[in-house]
Amino acid sequence: MDALELFARRYSCRAFKADPVPSEALMRLVDAARLAPSARAEQPWEFAVLTDPRLLKELGRLVDTGRFLGQAAACVAVLCRRGADYALEDGAAATQNILLCATALGLGACWIAGARKAYAPAVERALRAPATLALISLVALGVPAEPAPSERGRRPLAEVLHWQGF
Ligand SMILES: Cc1cc2nc3c(=O)[nH]c(=O)nc-3n(C[C@H](O)[C@H](O)[C@H](O)COP(=O)(O)O)c2cc1C
Repeated sequence: MDALELFARRYSCRAFKADPVPSEALMRLVDAARLAPSARAEQPWEFAVLTDPRLLKELGRLVDTGRFLGQAAACVAVLCRRGADYALEDGAAATQNILLCATALGLGACWIAGARKAYAPAVERALRAPATLALISLVALGVPAEPAPSERGRRPLAEVLHWQGF
């Protein structure tokens, strides 16, 4: 699958089969994440890989925008060093790499907001994250339980593209 097809195939999957995600696949996701660009190549990120159903259920209870995390087979939590100048942008770039890598591996994935959410401190505590790290995102993962959506609802190219400025 080439990169353009990968972009087109990626979608937010929120329903997962009970099948586990192999450790090798989870390692490949984090390997892809660490290849993301970061401002001044600071790489302020750390990645917590979660497969314990009890922890996933606890997170699903905490995260009101991602209850389905409680039924996911796995999750990669993206955290960045508090105070890093571009923590949010760097963490977002790493998160997108995880989503695209998951698509390439045939896994379903969904970005769940983390930064600035009221539940972020509770999630950080549940992960036993050091105080130096701030939650950026949670990526729910698993084998998709439903077919991919046929309609992506994107604004048309002609509407969003502006040659030589506006
Ligand atoms: C920064 C960010 C935060 C998001 N947070 C959530 C979330 O908390 N819960 C959720 O179900 N989806 C979340 N999403 C997924 C979006 O809802 C999804 O990407 C959007 O609806 C487009 O659909 P698609 O990913 O299938 O193309 C988030 C996406 C981004 C980029």
